[in-house]
Amino acid sequence: MRHLPGTYESYWMETGTGPEHPSLTGDLEVDVAVVGAGVAGICTAWELARAGLRVALLEGDRVAAGVTGHTTAKLSAQHGLLYAQLRKSFGVEGARQYARSQQEAVEYVARVAAELEIDCELERVPAFTYGESSDAADELRAEADAAREAGLAASFVSETGLPYPVAGAVRVDDQAQFHPRKFLLALVADLVERGGVVHERTRIVSLDEGDPCRLTAESGVEIVARDVVVATHYPVFDRALLFSRLEPHRELVIAAALPAGQDPRGMYVTQEQNTRSVRTAPYVEGKRLLIVTGEKFTPGVGDVGERYEQLATWTLERFPTARITHRWAAQDNTTTDKVPFVGPFHPGSRHVYVATGFGGWGMSNGVMSGRLLAAQITGGELPWASLYDPRRLHVRETPSLLKVQGSVLKHFVGDRLRTSHADSIDEIAPGTGALVRVDGRRCAVYRDENGAPHAVSARCTHLGCLVHFNDAERAWECPCHGSRFAVDGAVLQGPAVHPLAPRALPESNET
Ligand code: FES
Repeated sequence: MRHLPGTYESYWMETGTGPEHPSLTGDLEVDVAVVGAGVAGICTAWELARAGLRVALLEGDRVAAGVTGHTTAKLSAQHGLLYAQLRKSFGVEGARQYARSQQEAVEYVARVAAELEIDCELERVPAFTYGESSDAADELRAEADAAREAGLAASFVSETGLPYPVAGAVRVDDQAQFHPRKFLLALVADLVERGGVVHERTRIVSLDEGDPCRLTAESGVEIVARDVVVATHYPVFDRALLFSRLEPHRELVIAAALPAGQDPRGMYVTQEQNTRSVRTAPYVEGKRLLIVTGEKFTPGVGDVGERYEQLATWTLERFPTARITHRWAAQDNTTTDKVPFVGPFHPGSRHVYVATGFGGWGMSNGVMSGRLLAAQITGGELPWASLYDPRRLHVRETPSLLKVQGSVLKHFVGDRLRTSHADSIDEIAPGTGALVRVDGRRCAVYRDENGAPHAVSARCTHLGCLVHFNDAERAWECPCHGSRFAVDGAVLQGPAVHPLAPRALPESNET
Protein backbone atom coordinates (compact mmCIF):
# COMPACT_ATOMS: atom_id res chain seq x y z
CA MET A 1 0.00 0.00 0.00
CA ARG A 2 1.30 3.47 -0.89
CA HIS A 3 1.90 5.48 2.28
CA LEU A 4 -1.23 7.44 3.16
CA PRO A 5 -0.93 10.51 5.37
CA GLY A 6 -2.65 10.72 8.75
CA THR A 7 -3.02 8.22 11.57
CA TYR A 8 -4.52 4.74 11.47
CA GLU A 9 -7.04 5.43 14.21
CA SER A 10 -10.74 6.16 14.42
CA TYR A 11 -11.38 9.85 15.03
CA TRP A 12 -14.16 8.88 17.46
CA MET A 13 -11.75 6.73 19.46
CA GLU A 14 -9.12 9.47 19.53
CA THR A 15 -11.46 12.23 20.69
CA GLY A 16 -14.06 10.38 22.78
CA THR A 17 -12.33 9.07 25.89
CA GLY A 18 -13.80 7.64 29.06
CA PRO A 19 -12.80 5.83 32.25
CA GLU A 20 -11.78 2.18 32.32
CA HIS A 21 -14.18 -0.28 33.91
CA PRO A 22 -12.86 -3.27 35.88
CA SER A 23 -13.02 -6.78 34.49
CA LEU A 24 -15.31 -9.13 36.41
CA THR A 25 -13.38 -11.09 39.01
CA GLY A 26 -16.15 -12.75 41.02
CA ASP A 27 -19.53 -14.34 40.41
CA LEU A 28 -22.44 -11.97 39.90
CA GLU A 29 -26.23 -12.08 40.02
CA VAL A 30 -28.39 -9.50 38.25
CA ASP A 31 -31.82 -9.12 36.67
CA VAL A 32 -30.43 -8.66 33.16
CA ALA A 33 -26.99 -9.35 31.70
CA VAL A 34 -26.24 -7.47 28.48
CA VAL A 35 -23.38 -9.06 26.53
CA GLY A 36 -21.65 -6.54 24.26
CA ALA A 37 -21.19 -2.82 24.98
CA GLY A 38 -21.74 -1.28 21.57
CA VAL A 39 -24.59 1.08 20.75
CA ALA A 40 -27.31 -1.60 21.04
CA GLY A 41 -25.99 -3.07 24.30
CA ILE A 42 -25.41 0.31 25.94
CA CYS A 43 -28.85 1.65 24.98
CA THR A 44 -30.56 -1.55 26.19
CA ALA A 45 -28.68 -1.54 29.50
CA TRP A 46 -29.34 2.15 30.09
CA GLU A 47 -33.07 1.83 29.38
CA LEU A 48 -33.33 -1.16 31.75
CA ALA A 49 -31.39 0.60 34.53
CA ARG A 50 -33.70 3.58 34.08
CA ALA A 51 -36.62 1.20 34.57
CA GLY A 52 -35.11 0.16 37.94
CA LEU A 53 -33.63 -3.26 37.01
CA ARG A 54 -30.26 -4.55 38.23
CA VAL A 55 -28.18 -4.61 35.05
CA ALA A 56 -24.69 -5.84 34.16
CA LEU A 57 -23.09 -4.64 30.93
CA LEU A 58 -20.33 -7.10 29.92
CA GLU A 59 -17.78 -6.34 27.22
CA GLY A 60 -14.96 -8.51 25.88
CA ASP A 61 -12.85 -5.49 24.99
CA ARG A 62 -13.57 -1.83 25.86
CA VAL A 63 -16.92 -0.02 25.96
CA ALA A 64 -18.03 1.48 22.60
CA ALA A 65 -14.67 0.59 21.08
CA GLY A 66 -15.60 -2.09 18.56
CA VAL A 67 -17.87 -1.48 15.58
CA THR A 68 -19.53 1.42 17.43
CA GLY A 69 -16.20 3.25 17.83
CA HIS A 70 -15.50 2.87 14.11
CA THR A 71 -18.83 3.83 12.58
CA THR A 72 -19.49 6.93 10.48
CA ALA A 73 -22.18 7.85 13.05
CA LYS A 74 -24.92 8.94 10.73
CA LEU A 75 -28.16 8.95 12.65
CA SER A 76 -30.69 8.54 9.91
CA ALA A 77 -33.96 6.85 9.02
CA GLN A 78 -32.91 6.94 5.37
CA HIS A 79 -31.04 3.75 4.61
CA GLY A 80 -29.95 3.92 0.98
CA LEU A 81 -32.61 2.55 -1.35
CA LEU A 82 -34.35 0.45 1.28
CA TYR A 83 -37.93 1.71 1.31
CA ALA A 84 -38.90 0.56 -2.20
CA GLN A 85 -37.60 -2.87 -1.24
CA LEU A 86 -39.37 -2.89 2.13
CA ARG A 87 -42.65 -1.97 0.46
CA LYS A 88 -42.25 -4.99 -1.80
CA SER A 89 -41.19 -7.44 0.93
CA PHE A 90 -43.18 -6.24 3.96
CA GLY A 91 -45.96 -4.14 2.39
CA VAL A 92 -46.74 -0.47 2.95
CA GLU A 93 -47.45 -1.03 6.64
CA GLY A 94 -44.12 -2.81 7.19
CA ALA A 95 -42.26 0.05 5.50
CA ARG A 96 -44.17 2.54 7.69
CA GLN A 97 -43.27 0.69 10.88
CA TYR A 98 -39.63 0.62 9.82
CA ALA A 99 -39.59 4.36 9.04
CA ARG A 100 -41.33 5.26 12.29
CA SER A 101 -39.06 3.09 14.44
CA GLN A 102 -35.94 4.60 12.82
CA GLN A 103 -37.12 8.22 12.93
CA GLU A 104 -38.06 7.76 16.58
CA ALA A 105 -34.50 6.56 17.21
CA VAL A 106 -33.16 9.83 15.75
CA GLU A 107 -35.50 11.86 17.98
CA TYR A 108 -34.66 9.67 20.99
CA VAL A 109 -30.95 10.54 20.78
CA ALA A 110 -31.76 14.25 20.52
CA ARG A 111 -34.12 14.00 23.51
CA VAL A 112 -31.72 11.97 25.72
CA ALA A 113 -28.77 14.21 24.82
CA ALA A 114 -30.82 17.24 25.91
CA GLU A 115 -32.12 15.51 29.06
CA LEU A 116 -28.64 14.44 30.24
CA GLU A 117 -26.97 17.56 28.83
CA ILE A 118 -24.57 15.49 26.71
CA ASP A 119 -22.36 17.52 24.41
CA CYS A 120 -22.16 14.94 21.60
CA GLU A 121 -21.86 17.37 18.67
CA LEU A 122 -25.37 16.51 17.52
CA GLU A 123 -26.25 18.33 14.31
CA ARG A 124 -29.61 18.15 12.50
CA VAL A 125 -28.95 17.79 8.77
CA PRO A 126 -30.73 16.31 5.75
CA ALA A 127 -29.76 12.87 4.43
CA PHE A 128 -29.31 12.21 0.70
CA THR A 129 -29.11 8.99 -1.29
CA TYR A 130 -27.78 10.03 -4.68
CA GLY A 131 -26.71 8.67 -8.05
CA GLU A 132 -24.30 10.20 -10.54
CA SER A 133 -25.29 8.03 -13.47
CA SER A 134 -28.44 9.05 -15.37
CA ASP A 135 -29.57 5.39 -15.18
CA ALA A 136 -30.07 5.86 -11.43
CA ALA A 137 -32.74 8.59 -11.67
CA ASP A 138 -35.80 6.32 -12.05
CA GLU A 139 -34.79 4.15 -9.14
CA LEU A 140 -34.19 7.22 -6.97
CA ARG A 141 -37.60 8.64 -7.87
CA ALA A 142 -39.25 5.33 -6.90
CA GLU A 143 -37.33 5.34 -3.63
CA ALA A 144 -38.42 8.92 -2.87
CA ASP A 145 -42.06 7.85 -3.41
CA ALA A 146 -41.68 4.78 -1.20
CA ALA A 147 -39.92 6.71 1.58
CA ARG A 148 -42.58 9.44 1.51
CA GLU A 149 -45.34 6.84 1.58
CA ALA A 150 -43.59 5.27 4.59
CA GLY A 151 -43.93 8.59 6.40
CA LEU A 152 -40.50 10.22 5.99
CA ALA A 153 -40.01 13.84 4.90
CA ALA A 154 -38.64 12.59 1.56
CA SER A 155 -38.41 14.21 -1.88
CA PHE A 156 -36.58 13.71 -5.18
CA VAL A 157 -34.05 16.52 -5.78
CA SER A 158 -31.18 17.35 -8.10
CA GLU A 159 -29.36 19.81 -5.79
CA THR A 160 -27.46 18.23 -2.91
CA GLY A 161 -24.74 20.65 -1.79
CA LEU A 162 -22.04 18.20 -2.95
CA PRO A 163 -19.26 19.80 -5.02
CA TYR A 164 -19.90 17.43 -7.96
CA PRO A 165 -22.98 16.93 -10.12
CA VAL A 166 -25.50 14.17 -9.47
CA ALA A 167 -28.26 12.81 -11.69
CA GLY A 168 -30.69 12.91 -8.79
CA ALA A 169 -31.09 12.21 -5.10
CA VAL A 170 -33.62 11.27 -2.46
CA ARG A 171 -33.54 13.96 0.22
CA VAL A 172 -34.92 13.18 3.68
CA ASP A 173 -35.10 16.07 6.14
CA ASP A 174 -34.85 16.03 9.95
CA GLN A 175 -31.97 13.57 10.26
CA ALA A 176 -28.84 13.93 12.43
CA GLN A 177 -25.13 13.23 12.85
CA PHE A 178 -23.19 13.10 16.11
CA HIS A 179 -20.08 11.92 17.96
CA PRO A 180 -21.11 8.37 18.92
CA ARG A 181 -18.64 7.85 21.74
CA LYS A 182 -19.36 11.17 23.43
CA PHE A 183 -23.03 10.21 23.52
CA LEU A 184 -22.60 6.57 24.54
CA LEU A 185 -19.87 7.07 27.16
CA ALA A 186 -22.15 9.62 28.86
CA LEU A 187 -24.93 7.03 28.82
CA VAL A 188 -22.58 4.47 30.42
CA ALA A 189 -21.63 6.98 33.14
CA ASP A 190 -25.32 7.57 33.84
CA LEU A 191 -25.95 3.80 33.86
CA VAL A 192 -23.32 3.41 36.61
CA GLU A 193 -24.89 6.26 38.59
CA ARG A 194 -28.18 4.41 38.42
CA GLY A 195 -26.60 1.31 39.98
CA GLY A 196 -25.73 -0.62 36.81
CA VAL A 197 -22.39 -2.46 36.71
CA VAL A 198 -20.04 -2.36 33.74
CA HIS A 199 -17.22 -4.86 33.20
CA GLU A 200 -14.74 -4.48 30.36
CA ARG A 201 -12.28 -7.17 29.22
CA THR A 202 -14.81 -9.75 30.32
CA ARG A 203 -15.36 -12.05 27.37
CA ILE A 204 -18.37 -14.33 27.75
CA VAL A 205 -17.72 -17.78 26.31
CA SER A 206 -20.81 -19.77 27.21
CA LEU A 207 -24.50 -19.35 27.87
CA ASP A 208 -26.73 -21.83 29.63
CA GLU A 209 -30.33 -20.84 28.90
CA GLY A 210 -32.71 -21.52 31.74
CA ASP A 211 -34.62 -19.92 34.53
CA PRO A 212 -32.35 -18.22 35.49
CA CYS A 213 -29.74 -18.11 32.70
CA ARG A 214 -26.06 -18.68 33.45
CA LEU A 215 -23.18 -17.06 31.60
CA THR A 216 -19.55 -18.02 31.95
CA ALA A 217 -16.67 -15.64 31.26
CA GLU A 218 -13.31 -16.68 29.82
CA SER A 219 -11.83 -16.32 33.32
CA GLY A 220 -14.32 -18.89 34.65
CA VAL A 221 -16.50 -16.49 36.70
CA GLU A 222 -20.26 -17.02 36.39
CA ILE A 223 -23.06 -14.51 35.92
CA VAL A 224 -26.61 -15.49 36.85
CA ALA A 225 -29.37 -13.43 35.22
CA ARG A 226 -33.08 -13.78 34.65
CA ASP A 227 -32.73 -12.28 31.16
CA VAL A 228 -29.79 -12.09 28.78
CA VAL A 229 -29.30 -9.78 25.80
CA VAL A 230 -26.75 -10.84 23.17
CA ALA A 231 -25.64 -7.58 21.54
CA THR A 232 -22.24 -8.69 20.29
CA HIS A 233 -22.71 -7.36 16.75
CA TYR A 234 -22.45 -10.79 15.10
CA PRO A 235 -24.27 -12.96 17.67
CA VAL A 236 -22.33 -15.42 19.78
CA PHE A 237 -24.08 -18.52 21.23
CA ASP A 238 -26.12 -18.64 18.04
CA ARG A 239 -28.62 -21.46 18.67
CA ALA A 240 -31.01 -20.20 15.99
CA LEU A 241 -28.17 -20.34 13.43
CA LEU A 242 -28.77 -16.70 12.61
CA PHE A 243 -25.26 -16.59 11.15
CA SER A 244 -26.62 -18.48 8.15
CA ARG A 245 -28.90 -15.49 7.49
CA LEU A 246 -26.28 -12.77 8.00
CA GLU A 247 -23.75 -11.52 5.48
CA PRO A 248 -20.67 -9.77 6.95
CA HIS A 249 -19.02 -6.89 5.18
CA ARG A 250 -16.29 -4.42 5.94
CA GLU A 251 -15.93 -0.84 4.79
CA LEU A 252 -13.01 1.56 4.90
CA VAL A 253 -13.11 5.10 6.24
CA ILE A 254 -10.95 8.12 5.36
CA ALA A 255 -11.21 11.36 7.36
CA ALA A 256 -9.79 14.64 6.09
CA ALA A 257 -9.68 18.27 7.24
CA LEU A 258 -11.79 20.46 4.93
CA PRO A 259 -12.10 24.27 4.91
CA ALA A 260 -15.33 24.98 6.79
CA GLY A 261 -16.72 27.01 3.86
CA GLN A 262 -16.67 23.87 1.68
CA ASP A 263 -18.87 21.79 4.00
CA PRO A 264 -21.69 20.35 1.86
CA ARG A 265 -23.94 20.38 4.99
CA GLY A 266 -25.61 17.03 4.64
CA MET A 267 -25.11 13.27 4.93
CA TYR A 268 -24.73 11.45 1.63
CA VAL A 269 -24.62 7.90 0.35
CA THR A 270 -24.49 6.31 -3.08
CA GLN A 271 -24.46 2.66 -3.99
CA GLU A 272 -22.41 3.45 -7.09
CA GLN A 273 -18.61 2.93 -7.14
CA ASN A 274 -18.88 0.15 -4.53
CA THR A 275 -20.68 2.53 -2.15
CA ARG A 276 -19.53 5.94 -1.04
CA SER A 277 -20.78 7.70 2.07
CA VAL A 278 -19.95 11.30 3.02
CA ARG A 279 -20.58 13.38 6.13
CA THR A 280 -18.71 16.05 8.08
CA ALA A 281 -18.09 16.72 11.77
CA PRO A 282 -16.86 19.66 13.87
CA TYR A 283 -13.04 19.91 13.77
CA VAL A 284 -10.44 22.57 14.52
CA GLU A 285 -11.03 26.29 14.04
CA GLY A 286 -11.98 27.07 10.43
CA LYS A 287 -12.16 23.41 9.41
CA ARG A 288 -14.67 20.58 9.28
CA LEU A 289 -13.71 16.92 9.30
CA LEU A 290 -14.82 15.23 6.09
CA ILE A 291 -15.58 11.54 6.69
CA VAL A 292 -15.77 9.31 3.61
CA THR A 293 -16.65 5.61 3.76
CA GLY A 294 -16.71 2.99 1.02
CA GLU A 295 -14.99 0.07 -0.70
CA LYS A 296 -17.35 -2.51 0.76
CA PHE A 297 -15.84 -6.02 0.88
CA THR A 298 -16.15 -9.40 2.55
CA PRO A 299 -13.67 -9.67 5.46
CA GLY A 300 -10.62 -11.67 4.41
CA VAL A 301 -11.16 -11.12 0.69
CA GLY A 302 -9.01 -8.91 -1.55
CA ASP A 303 -6.22 -6.39 -1.13
CA VAL A 304 -7.26 -3.93 1.58
CA GLY A 305 -4.28 -1.63 1.01
CA GLU A 306 -5.35 -1.14 -2.59
CA ARG A 307 -8.88 -0.38 -1.45
CA TYR A 308 -7.63 2.33 0.92
CA GLU A 309 -5.74 3.89 -1.98
CA GLN A 310 -8.86 3.89 -4.17
CA LEU A 311 -10.93 5.53 -1.44
CA ALA A 312 -8.24 8.16 -0.78
CA THR A 313 -7.99 8.92 -4.52
CA TRP A 314 -11.79 9.28 -4.81
CA THR A 315 -11.84 11.61 -1.78
CA LEU A 316 -9.10 13.90 -3.05
CA GLU A 317 -10.54 14.03 -6.57
CA ARG A 318 -13.93 15.14 -5.23
CA PHE A 319 -12.60 17.35 -2.41
CA PRO A 320 -9.18 18.57 -3.69
CA THR A 321 -8.53 20.91 -0.75
CA ALA A 322 -9.07 18.15 1.85
CA ARG A 323 -6.04 16.91 3.83
CA ILE A 324 -6.22 13.33 5.09
CA THR A 325 -5.92 13.05 8.87
CA HIS A 326 -7.23 9.58 9.83
CA ARG A 327 -8.22 6.24 8.38
CA TRP A 328 -9.96 3.27 9.92
CA ALA A 329 -12.36 0.47 9.01
CA ALA A 330 -15.86 -0.53 10.06
CA GLN A 331 -17.62 -3.88 9.97
CA ASP A 332 -21.28 -4.78 9.84
CA ASN A 333 -23.58 -7.54 8.71
CA THR A 334 -26.79 -7.55 6.75
CA THR A 335 -29.72 -9.92 7.10
CA THR A 336 -31.05 -11.74 4.08
CA ASP A 337 -34.21 -9.58 4.02
CA LYS A 338 -32.35 -6.36 5.00
CA VAL A 339 -34.33 -5.88 8.24
CA PRO A 340 -32.33 -6.37 11.49
CA PHE A 341 -32.98 -9.25 13.89
CA VAL A 342 -34.09 -7.75 17.20
CA GLY A 343 -36.08 -9.70 19.77
CA PRO A 344 -36.23 -13.25 21.20
CA PHE A 345 -33.16 -15.19 20.08
CA HIS A 346 -34.92 -18.31 18.79
CA PRO A 347 -38.39 -19.92 18.74
CA GLY A 348 -38.03 -21.54 22.18
CA SER A 349 -36.36 -18.52 23.74
CA ARG A 350 -38.08 -17.08 26.82
CA HIS A 351 -35.28 -15.10 28.44
CA VAL A 352 -32.60 -14.59 25.79
CA TYR A 353 -32.74 -11.75 23.27
CA VAL A 354 -30.58 -10.68 20.36
CA ALA A 355 -29.89 -7.54 18.28
CA THR A 356 -27.92 -7.89 15.07
CA GLY A 357 -27.85 -7.35 11.30
CA PHE A 358 -27.90 -3.55 11.17
CA GLY A 359 -26.86 -3.44 7.51
CA GLY A 360 -24.46 -0.52 7.89
CA TRP A 361 -27.01 1.63 9.74
CA GLY A 362 -25.92 0.77 13.25
CA MET A 363 -26.66 4.06 14.98
CA SER A 364 -30.41 4.29 14.41
CA ASN A 365 -30.80 0.49 14.47
CA GLY A 366 -28.74 0.19 17.67
CA VAL A 367 -30.81 2.84 19.44
CA MET A 368 -34.04 1.31 18.09
CA SER A 369 -32.89 -2.09 19.42
CA GLY A 370 -32.22 -0.72 22.89
CA ARG A 371 -35.72 0.69 23.14
CA LEU A 372 -37.36 -2.42 21.70
CA LEU A 373 -35.50 -4.98 23.84
CA ALA A 374 -35.93 -2.96 27.03
CA ALA A 375 -39.68 -2.78 26.32
CA GLN A 376 -39.88 -6.54 25.71
CA ILE A 377 -37.93 -7.39 28.87
CA THR A 378 -40.04 -5.10 31.06
CA GLY A 379 -43.28 -6.50 29.66
CA GLY A 380 -44.02 -3.67 27.24
CA GLU A 381 -44.30 -3.82 23.48
CA LEU A 382 -43.58 -1.50 20.60
CA PRO A 383 -45.65 -1.62 17.40
CA TRP A 384 -42.72 -2.75 15.25
CA ALA A 385 -41.77 -5.80 17.37
CA SER A 386 -43.01 -8.34 14.82
CA LEU A 387 -41.24 -6.58 11.92
CA TYR A 388 -37.85 -7.11 13.61
CA ASP A 389 -38.64 -10.50 15.19
CA PRO A 390 -35.62 -12.79 14.50
CA ARG A 391 -37.97 -15.79 14.32
CA ARG A 392 -39.45 -14.60 11.05
CA LEU A 393 -38.59 -16.36 7.81
CA HIS A 394 -39.86 -14.78 4.63
CA VAL A 395 -40.16 -16.64 1.38
CA ARG A 396 -38.50 -13.64 -0.24
CA GLU A 397 -35.41 -14.32 1.86
CA THR A 398 -34.72 -17.62 0.12
CA PRO A 399 -32.59 -16.40 -2.84
CA SER A 400 -30.46 -14.21 -0.52
CA LEU A 401 -30.18 -17.05 1.97
CA LEU A 402 -28.89 -19.36 -0.75
CA LYS A 403 -26.43 -16.68 -1.86
CA VAL A 404 -25.02 -16.29 1.66
CA GLN A 405 -24.73 -20.04 2.11
CA GLY A 406 -23.16 -20.45 -1.33
CA SER A 407 -20.53 -17.90 -0.44
CA VAL A 408 -19.75 -19.63 2.87
CA LEU A 409 -19.51 -23.01 1.15
CA LYS A 410 -17.21 -21.53 -1.48
CA HIS A 411 -14.79 -20.36 1.19
CA PHE A 412 -15.13 -23.49 3.33
CA VAL A 413 -14.37 -25.88 0.47
CA GLY A 414 -12.57 -23.70 -2.06
CA ASP A 415 -10.05 -22.28 0.39
CA ARG A 416 -9.10 -25.81 1.41
CA LEU A 417 -8.53 -27.00 -2.14
CA ARG A 418 -6.25 -24.10 -2.92
CA THR A 419 -2.58 -24.57 -2.18
CA SER A 420 -1.28 -22.70 0.83
CA HIS A 421 -0.81 -19.04 0.21
CA ALA A 422 2.98 -19.20 0.71
CA ASP A 423 5.21 -22.20 0.03
CA SER A 424 7.48 -21.45 2.93
CA ILE A 425 7.77 -19.11 5.87
CA ASP A 426 10.83 -17.53 4.22
CA GLU A 427 8.55 -16.00 1.58
CA ILE A 428 6.67 -13.92 4.16
CA ALA A 429 7.97 -10.34 4.29
CA PRO A 430 8.13 -8.38 7.59
CA GLY A 431 4.74 -6.84 8.49
CA THR A 432 2.80 -9.37 6.38
CA GLY A 433 1.19 -12.78 6.89
CA ALA A 434 0.22 -15.86 4.89
CA LEU A 435 -0.99 -19.41 5.33
CA VAL A 436 1.80 -21.96 5.25
CA ARG A 437 1.86 -25.72 5.74
CA VAL A 438 4.05 -26.56 8.71
CA ASP A 439 4.54 -30.27 9.48
CA GLY A 440 1.46 -31.01 7.37
CA ARG A 441 -0.77 -28.52 9.22
CA ARG A 442 -2.00 -25.21 7.85
CA CYS A 443 -0.72 -22.38 10.00
CA ALA A 444 -1.43 -18.66 9.81
CA VAL A 445 2.03 -17.11 10.03
CA TYR A 446 2.71 -13.42 10.61
CA ARG A 447 6.24 -12.01 10.43
CA ASP A 448 6.71 -8.96 12.65
CA GLU A 449 8.75 -5.88 11.75
CA ASN A 450 11.83 -7.37 13.47
CA GLY A 451 11.62 -10.44 11.26
CA ALA A 452 10.30 -12.88 13.87
CA PRO A 453 7.51 -15.21 12.64
CA HIS A 454 4.44 -15.88 14.82
CA ALA A 455 2.21 -18.85 14.01
CA VAL A 456 -1.37 -19.62 15.01
CA SER A 457 -3.90 -22.14 13.74
CA ALA A 458 -5.36 -21.17 10.35
CA ARG A 459 -8.78 -22.62 11.25
CA CYS A 460 -11.33 -20.09 12.49
CA THR A 461 -12.60 -21.16 15.92
CA HIS A 462 -16.21 -20.45 14.91
CA LEU A 463 -16.88 -23.18 12.35
CA GLY A 464 -13.47 -23.95 10.91
CA CYS A 465 -13.11 -21.89 7.72
CA LEU A 466 -9.57 -20.80 6.87
CA VAL A 467 -8.57 -17.28 7.88
CA HIS A 468 -6.90 -14.80 5.50
CA PHE A 469 -4.45 -12.00 6.24
CA ASN A 470 -5.59 -8.38 5.98
CA ASP A 471 -2.37 -6.59 5.09
CA ALA A 472 -3.56 -3.02 5.77
CA GLU A 473 -5.02 -3.76 9.20
CA ARG A 474 -2.62 -6.56 10.18
CA ALA A 475 -5.30 -8.98 11.27
CA TRP A 476 -6.51 -12.48 10.42
CA GLU A 477 -10.04 -12.45 8.99
CA CYS A 478 -12.51 -15.21 8.28
CA PRO A 479 -14.48 -14.79 5.05
CA CYS A 480 -17.29 -17.13 6.17
CA HIS A 481 -18.97 -15.08 8.93
CA GLY A 482 -16.51 -12.24 9.49
CA SER A 483 -14.65 -13.25 12.67
CA ARG A 484 -11.40 -11.32 13.07
CA PHE A 485 -8.29 -12.15 15.07
CA ALA A 486 -5.15 -10.23 16.05
CA VAL A 487 -1.80 -11.51 14.78
CA ASP A 488 -1.36 -13.36 18.10
CA GLY A 489 -4.74 -15.08 17.59
CA ALA A 490 -6.80 -13.01 20.10
CA VAL A 491 -10.44 -12.49 19.09
CA LEU A 492 -11.10 -9.00 17.69
CA GLN A 493 -14.56 -9.66 16.32
CA GLY A 494 -17.09 -12.50 16.66
CA PRO A 495 -18.98 -14.72 16.13
CA ALA A 496 -15.83 -16.62 17.24
CA VAL A 497 -15.31 -16.40 21.01
CA HIS A 498 -12.11 -18.45 21.28
CA PRO A 499 -8.67 -17.33 20.06
CA LEU A 500 -6.71 -19.03 17.28
CA ALA A 501 -4.48 -21.60 18.98
CA PRO A 502 -0.74 -20.89 18.97
CA ARG A 503 1.38 -23.16 16.76
CA ALA A 504 5.03 -24.01 17.26
CA LEU A 505 7.39 -23.42 14.36
CA PRO A 506 10.47 -25.49 13.55
CA GLU A 507 13.45 -23.90 15.28
CA SER A 508 15.10 -22.74 12.05
CA ASN A 509 12.06 -20.52 11.36
CA GLU A 510 11.80 -18.87 14.73
CA THR A 511 14.18 -15.97 14.21
FE1 FES B 1 -17.75 -18.58 10.96
FE2 FES B 1 -15.14 -18.20 10.73
S1 FES B 1 -16.63 -16.78 11.29
S2 FES B 1 -16.24 -20.00 10.33
